[in-house]
Amino acid sequence: MVRDICDSGEKGVNAMAEFTVNGAHVAPQKNIKLLRFLRDELHLTSVKDGCSQGACGACTVIIDGAPCKACVPDTDTLEGRTIITVEGLSDWEKEAYTFAYAEAGAVQCGFCIPGMVLCTKALLDQNPDPDETEIRYALRNNYCRCTGYVKIIAAVKLAAQIMREGVIPDAKAKDWRLGSRVQRLDAREKALGTGKYPDDYYMDVTMGCDAQGIIQGVKAVVTSDTGGYMSLGGPVLQRACTHAAGPYAYENFEIEGTAYYTNNPPAGAFRGFGVTQTCFATETLLNSFPLESRAQ
Ligand code: FES
Ligand code: FES
Repeated sequence: MVRDICDSGEKGVNAMAEFTVNGAHVAPQKNIKLLRFLRDELHLTSVKDGCSQGACGACTVIIDGAPCKACVPDTDTLEGRTIITVEGLSDWEKEAYTFAYAEAGAVQCGFCIPGMVLCTKALLDQNPDPDETEIRYALRNNYCRCTGYVKIIAAVKLAAQIMREGVIPDAKAKDWRLGSRVQRLDAREKALGTGKYPDDYYMDVTMGCDAQGIIQGVKAVVTSDTGGYMSLGGPVLQRACTHAAGPYAYENFEIEGTAYYTNNPPAGAFRGFGVTQTCFATETLLNSFPLESRAQ
C-alpha cells in the first residue's frame, strides 16, 4: 500500500531524516521543504516551483510509487522513503515519455510537463492500460497554464501504448515542409525539465494610495524580451499590461509596454501568458502598503 506523505502529519517526527533520491542515499543537514532540497541542494531542476503552496503540481515527484507535490513535505518526514524525479527515470522511460508528449503536441512552455510525466509514470506503473477517466483522475492535481488537457491526455494514452508494446513508433510527420505538423524541437528539454527559461520581463512599477487606502494611481513601464522570434510576444505583452493594474479600482494609470526582439531564446506564450509577471509586481507593491490600506 502506498503511504500518502503529503497528508501524513509526520512533520518533525524524524529530524535529519535520511532517504533515497534517484537511487542515491541522501541526508539533508537541515529540515526544509523537499522541493527546496531537490532544487537547491541536489540541483534537480526538473522539479519546477510553480507556486510553492501545493496548488499547481509543477513540483510533482514520485515517493514510494505515488505522485506527491514536493513543495508539501518537509525533509524530516521522509525517513526511509524512495523518491524519483525525472532525472531518475531510465533511459527508456525518458525516450518513451519524451516521444509521447512531443508526438501528441502536449508540450507548450513545458513548465508543467515534468510533473505530468511523473504522474503518467506513477499511473502506468500501476495500471498499464488506463481509460480516459483514470487518466483524468491521475492528472487531477496538475495544472497546465498553457493548454487544455486534450493533448496531454493523448500523450498519456500514447505513453501507455508504448510501455505496453515496448516499442517507440515512428513520428507521424517526418518531413519538414512548410505546413507539416512536426514535433517541437525543444520538446525533449521541456519534457525532461532541462530547458532554461529566460528572464523575459523587466518592470518598473509605481503605485500610491491616499490616507483611506484608496489607490490613487499606478505607473508601469513593462519591457519584454521576446527572443529571436515573435512567438506571441505581442499578445503576451498586451495581457501583461492589461493586468498590470490588477483587479483593483484605480483613479489614474499609465502603463507602457514594449517588446524587443533579441538573440535570446523565444519568450512568448509562457506559463501565465504575461499576467503573472505584472500581477506579482502589483501584489508586491500592495504588500508594502499599510495594513489598514490593504483592507480597503
Ligand atoms: S510548486 Fe508544488 S504544487 Fe505548485
Ligand atoms: S505547457 Fe503546461 S504550463 Fe505550459
